[in-house]
Amino acid sequence: MAGGGIRQVKLERECELRIEVGNDAPLKLRLLNGTAEIFGTELPPEIWLTFPPRLKFAVFTWYGATIEMDGTTETDYTADETPNISYVNVHAVLDARRNRAKTLSSDDPNSPQAQGPRVIVVGPSDSGKSTLSKMLLSWAAKQGWKPTFVDLDIGQGAITIPGCIAATPIEMPIDPVEGIPLDMPLVYFYGHTTPMSNVDLYRVLVKELSQMVERQFTGNAESQAAGLVINTMGWIEGAGYELLLHAIDTFNANVVLVLGQEKLCSMLRDVLKNKPNVDVVKLQKSGGVVSRNVKFRQKSRSHRIREYFYGLSNDLSPHSNIANFGDLSIFRIGGGPQAPRSALPIGAEPAADPTRVVPVNINRDLLHMVLAISYAKEPDEIISSNVAGFVFVTDINIERKTITYLAPAAGELPGKFLIVGSLTWLET
Ligand SMILES: Nc1ncnc2c1ncn2[C@@H]1O[C@H](COP(=O)(O)OP(=O)(O)OP(=O)(O)O)[C@@H](O)[C@H]1O
Ligand SMILES: [Mg+2]
Repeated sequence: MAGGGIRQVKLERECELRIEVGNDAPLKLRLLNGTAEIFGTELPPEIWLTFPPRLKFAVFTWYGATIEMDGTTETDYTADETPNISYVNVHAVLDARRNRAKTLSSDDPNSPQAQGPRVIVVGPSDSGKSTLSKMLLSWAAKQGWKPTFVDLDIGQGAITIPGCIAATPIEMPIDPVEGIPLDMPLVYFYGHTTPMSNVDLYRVLVKELSQMVERQFTGNAESQAAGLVINTMGWIEGAGYELLLHAIDTFNANVVLVLGQEKLCSMLRDVLKNKPNVDVVKLQKSGGVVSRNVKFRQKSRSHRIREYFYGLSNDLSPHSNIANFGDLSIFRIGGGPQAPRSALPIGAEPAADPTRVVPVNINRDLLHMVLAISYAKEPDEIISSNVAGFVFVTDINIERKTITYLAPAAGELPGKFLIVGSLTWLET
């Protein structure tokens, strides 16, 4: 299963080569002949591509291909059973809906029929949600659509860093190595990597993001017809389930794709049965999906943050800046000092408002925190504002009252308010 050196693999039609790149070195791979794709994005003929350590992916061929690899893998094997035919059938249905929406929008752009499909992908952890989202987006982009990708998974940050929810139009099939280009995504900073940290805030931000996406759709018949692909978290029990319902409702999803769980599918069918325009479709989980443990996820998060500042192959050069405490206004959302019992009506419990914006005193607690730069003009706009980017606190000097931080670029920050959550990073 594991391998090294240069070798060729011949893939029969509708088969895939599943690969986990080794831990220490990248893997080079190229398509020698035939056609093949990685999660919906076609491989260019003959060009060597370099895949970073630990990446897990599959090279799938519809009609047959020969692949050449150079380097060490943790595992690589060929599988002839994949759910890709059912996935591409879903794509065909979505494509037909996009075409219908496009045709109808030239008659009446405001009719609900002029809306393209709004797909939400749900399922337990490690069921292949992110992968299916990528495939649907890449197949649509290949056909010239520009679907909007909405990522509600704060644990990973497929569009930007973890701790955020974000949306961005996908104009090209997604590069299997580089991922989604960081052009100008619409990003809201939640600040934690689990929704449990502040469920109310998570809901509020999902709402804000949906309103912004809706606003961008207005007057843009093309994106409206292309529709949405929404990726979600693997948390599907209890409050996680409630958050899924909230997301379906908030984004007006009309296609719910349920990966690999019968129970979730029937629960969703049941609650959505009074919404005849919402289709709940059960799809098989791919046997190739790899489970990732907590440690692996932490590592991936850390890599993602590193990538934000330094680039995938150290091709970016972030700037280290020093500011005086007084120059920065940092806020935290939620928690905060509670109202004293004496100030409350008799019998009431003091509760911290989860969406209260609280100024933060700069001290050593901020060391190694990742902060977001808000576009807000006033502190009370912080919750409803998206963020421009992030900085990373590398030093706090209490005597001199200075804070040193890493920013993606030199010069003044694009906003004057910073938001801190619990997102940290240890530069390695
Ligand atoms: N067919 C496949 N062959 C090999 N690897 C695969 C295949 N499908 C998915 N993977 C890999 O398996 C891992 C898990 O898949 P994915 O991220 O899509 O799951 P998920 O449901 O989104 O997980 P989470 O709940 O953590 O968000 C990823 O590293 C992905 O690249
Ligand atoms: Mg995922």
